[in-house]
Amino acid sequence: MSDVTVWLQELEAVRAETLRVCAQVDDTAFRTQVHPDFSPIGWHLGHIGVTESYWILQRCKGEPSLSPFYDWFFTPTENPKANRVNLPQRAHILAYLDQVRERVVSFLATCDLALPHPLLQQGKVINMLVQHEEQHNETMTVILRLLAARREGTVYGVPPAQPQASYSFGQEDMVVVPGGPLLMGSDDDTSTLDNERPRHRTTTGAFLIDRFPVTNGQFLQFLLAGGYRNPSWWTPAGWQWRERFGVEHPLYWRRAQNGEWWEIGLTQVHPLALDHPVSHVSWYEADAYARFAGKRLPTEAEWEKAATWDPARQRKLSYPWGEDQPDARHCNYNGTMHGTTPVGRYAAYPSPYGCVDMLGNVWEWTATWFHPYPGFVAYPYEGYSTPYFDGQHRVLKGGSWATRGHVLRPTFRNWYHPGVREICAGFRCAKDV
Ligand code: AVJ
Ligand code: FE
Repeated sequence: MSDVTVWLQELEAVRAETLRVCAQVDDTAFRTQVHPDFSPIGWHLGHIGVTESYWILQRCKGEPSLSPFYDWFFTPTENPKANRVNLPQRAHILAYLDQVRERVVSFLATCDLALPHPLLQQGKVINMLVQHEEQHNETMTVILRLLAARREGTVYGVPPAQPQASYSFGQEDMVVVPGGPLLMGSDDDTSTLDNERPRHRTTTGAFLIDRFPVTNGQFLQFLLAGGYRNPSWWTPAGWQWRERFGVEHPLYWRRAQNGEWWEIGLTQVHPLALDHPVSHVSWYEADAYARFAGKRLPTEAEWEKAATWDPARQRKLSYPWGEDQPDARHCNYNGTMHGTTPVGRYAAYPSPYGCVDMLGNVWEWTATWFHPYPGFVAYPYEGYSTPYFDGQHRVLKGGSWATRGHVLRPTFRNWYHPGVREICAGFRCAKDV
């Protein structure tokens, strides 16, 4: 991205998405903190504006803040989560966003691109802001789902009885990845984020990895076999987490009186789709399932190798299917499907090793703790990645159905505490050969 017109189009496109998500909630939901870990939707909206203002107007243009109060209120390290419900009026936040954007547009239209601020070179900071807003967009979608689940009972009522076919899915559908090299991460310093860099060569031993993410049907077998009642499948920390929160099924699963399983969707309750990937499970649940299945979670390196390494040409691909930018043919992303899709739906676009659904559908938990790659340099600010290299966050890869286009890539690294299951996260398993 180097042309101002393109920058403005990108900023506009993601903003339209943000406003579309916000328009789905009333003023009460806008300011509701629905879960202790997730700020109100309205807080995310203000935070998006403050971030844009800071990086373009304050840092690149050099003008003073439009609102020190907004800066304080919408900066995560300043304003404690419990205080974030005391939001300004929605109309004020929207007016602030417009005011920032108007100033950004006129600044970009007049700034000297022959001698741009270093942050503006190749549109670096624009890329960062687009990807920042896209990530907050996905989080807002996650909050919409939490809000919807809270209305359960009043809105949905009791699901009607429906026969559930007994189901068995190829537990053994795995591909072999021989031991040897791969390239991890990226060297592209204009369109990736700091923690993906630098690109580096590493190796893995030989391993097996699931062709598809673990399905609801497979996970149901774990549940029906008493997986949530048997500590031997769980790590001590995982079992402690399960006991503490009384977890007995994935977050949005519900058991009807007749024993059938249903799932709370964004707008309705539906029978559990057995061929969709299991989602809204924590790392602990994923890890327990893997042990139950006689498998384990893949490391981040194994995942990235299975997704992008082309052994025939000893080359790393940009995407599992090659170099083409993702579109609706390749995978389920961008929110267009409004939820997960059957794991085999995109089987025509596998990785060279034969893995399907590596991008989109659900984020996939890996065995790896979020850590800096060798030679990591924080950019453009310490606070994006560095605070999370604390041995308390597991890496997730691949993006979900709700992940927007500019952050959908195999080198992207997401991270969450292992107990988080509100995000659109599932997993696939690996195994030693
Ligand atoms: C990478 C999704 C965990 O939302 O906390 C947003 C991304 N960083 N604003 C988050 C992020 C700063 C981050 N995640
Ligand atoms: Fe942010």
